[in-house]
Amino acid sequence: MGQFIPLARPFMDEEEEQEVIDTLRSGLIATGPKTERFEREFAAYLGRKHAIGTNSCTAALHLGLLALGVGPGDEVVTTPMSFVATANSIIYAGARPVFVDVEPDTINIDPAHIEEAITERTRAIMIVHLYGHPCEMDEISDIARRHGLKVIGDCAHAIEAEYRGKKTGALGYIDCFSFYATKNLATGNGGMLVTDDDNVAGMVQSLRDHGMSSGAWARYHTGEFQHYQMTALGYKSIMWDVPAALGLHQLRRLEQRHRKRVELAALYDALLEPLNAHVQPLRPRKHVRHAWHIYAVLLKDVNRDRVASGMQARGIGVGVHYRPIHLEPFYRKRYGYSPGEFPVAEDAGARLLSLPFWPEMKEEEALRVVAALGEIVRGGHTWRNR
Ligand SMILES: Cc1ncc(COP(=O)(O)O)c(C=O)c1O
Repeated sequence: MGQFIPLARPFMDEEEEQEVIDTLRSGLIATGPKTERFEREFAAYLGRKHAIGTNSCTAALHLGLLALGVGPGDEVVTTPMSFVATANSIIYAGARPVFVDVEPDTINIDPAHIEEAITERTRAIMIVHLYGHPCEMDEISDIARRHGLKVIGDCAHAIEAEYRGKKTGALGYIDCFSFYATKNLATGNGGMLVTDDDNVAGMVQSLRDHGMSSGAWARYHTGEFQHYQMTALGYKSIMWDVPAALGLHQLRRLEQRHRKRVELAALYDALLEPLNAHVQPLRPRKHVRHAWHIYAVLLKDVNRDRVASGMQARGIGVGVHYRPIHLEPFYRKRYGYSPGEFPVAEDAGARLLSLPFWPEMKEEEALRVVAALGEIVRGGHTWRNR
């Protein structure tokens, strides 16, 4: 067996190292000048008025809901095909996640089912641009407008994504991003909320820091002593300057690395062609720019978990993004969900497999991944139908 090939790998260079050293030597490691700069540059990249750094995307989603006034008794329509954090953030806000099924080709929320799920208690639609493929924003924005709902975009996978030539992260009322270790822009942990609404921005700024009227950095560098006032029950969800230092340089290499993501996806598509009887890559729609965070395939006639185990046994890291949230034991118990309610999501959730994917991945590594996959799926005839 060759060296282990991981599912994803962050890329850090001397620029990141120097910026972190500079931050450490400055003595300012809490929320300070690097966070502010990162927020400004991130907002500029997307063309948004405000960007507010947090310690995770989960926190950004939660605080965004609170800033929109979502709370107990409310409902938020969302997708079952995401990381659990998406739906969990709705529960943190005190509201109820209401799932709708997904599209079979993108695995994104299906706009054709959203209206069926809207009630008089619905306050928002939380969408996820899964793997970096944008949701159908024209239809979703239209539904939201007609029902007076706000759209919150979970853009954890989708920083570079575009929908009909516009940055996907500029199309929600609020959009939230993750800088977790495996993400296209990685700082270990971290998140960002963007919006054009001054009030929402002000509230999130305060809610991320205990509900204080202004944070320590804002108070201390004015020259005058200032008290804070606690105006709402906030949380400890701030971004701090060490991850922000990493983020500044990760942001600068985003586009250049995205070009390599596009090339690697095309290479996988070509290499997988001989296996298309068993393995179906997900192809982007014509009018989008895919961020290519994750390269996922749908397995056709072979048992996904057996394939995943076979890949692991051959020293290749694979993932499942995701099994549907409504079937997690917590969701079944609390909301009474059961199998059969969202057939497209459930079918995909049983057949999806994510392959190793990061921009610096070498061609020979992709060849090894596909060779191993081929060996497993072609040899799968003994257990295919079980
Ligand atoms: C689609 C999606 N939403 C939300 C999150 C949560 O992000 P974070 O770990 O930054 O809270 C993730 C992280 O994996 C994700 O993939």
